[in-house]
Amino acid sequence: MAVREQIVDGDIAPGVGENLVHVQALHQGRYGFMGAQIEALPVLGVGASLSLSAQPDPVALVQAAGGPSFVEYAGRADVEDVRAEVDRIRAAGTPVLFHPSYINFCGTFPNSRAWLEATARHIAAVGSPWFAQDCAYCFWQEGPGYSTQLGYFIPTILNEASLRRAIERVREVKAQVPVVVAIEPPPMAFAVGKMPLFRFFGTVAREADCAILLDMGHLVSYEMASGCRVRDTLAELPRERVIEVHIAGGRLEPGTSGPIYIDAHERAILDPTWRMLENMLPELPAVRAVCFECEGASEETVLTTLRRVRSIVRGRSANPALVARAGAVN
Ligand SMILES: [Fe+2]
Repeated sequence: MAVREQIVDGDIAPGVGENLVHVQALHQGRYGFMGAQIEALPVLGVGASLSLSAQPDPVALVQAAGGPSFVEYAGRADVEDVRAEVDRIRAAGTPVLFHPSYINFCGTFPNSRAWLEATARHIAAVGSPWFAQDCAYCFWQEGPGYSTQLGYFIPTILNEASLRRAIERVREVKAQVPVVVAIEPPPMAFAVGKMPLFRFFGTVAREADCAILLDMGHLVSYEMASGCRVRDTLAELPRERVIEVHIAGGRLEPGTSGPIYIDAHERAILDPTWRMLENMLPELPAVRAVCFECEGASEETVLTTLRRVRSIVRGRSANPALVARAGAVN
């Protein structure tokens, strides 16, 4: 089993104990930086991720007072499956971001060329200014697959062997996809491997020269699963590469060694997730978009929550352009 091959002795043992802060300085000197590409990305403001063919209707929502400034959506690789719905949103003057769940950004199984070409066509057709997805196992066999076939995302293993595979996978995607690629730490009901999350993603981003999307609930899930605090290794996060932030609802389930965080976009945002947003935004000067992931929520919940998210962005974001964009909407 490919995943098992990447687990090495000690990964699951308690205790972290690494002291490799120098990695950041090392990589900053050795690898190129996509700073100019990030600078050129549009600042989209505060938006929502929605199901295109379900309630609430994305077009009704973007036309409502205080509605989302952009719409993010998942979907299949073939753009024809979503083109009609996406065209309606764009015709209303709202940009879209494609955020699927079928790319292997980690692991030993490569993404097929045809799969990546379909993705590139999709991105170009809808004008998604960047391409972001969770760095997780979406399929384990030859050929493409959607993460739903595995039940859900299987989180990447946090060790050196897995890190090297992730760099390979991101480079493979970058070679085919025509826009900035961003990787997202996945939701973690469990954590395998002892490498701190920000060291893993910081190193992948620097070595593969890609951007990062940080989901606040996923960071909370990592803290609960690993017992580690993300702020303890904040110095290892290349903050200038974080272009997007997600916030979404969740629920806690009892686990053998404490609560387990489960991503649940139809549920309310939990207090630790709100706190993570308030604490992280001041650290992230390059964020272009803050997305409330709310598939399955009511229109009223979406609009109320967007108001609160915008208020936090205005008060806490380190990107003045994002503050201005959020401030332009009531
Ligand atoms: Fe997310």
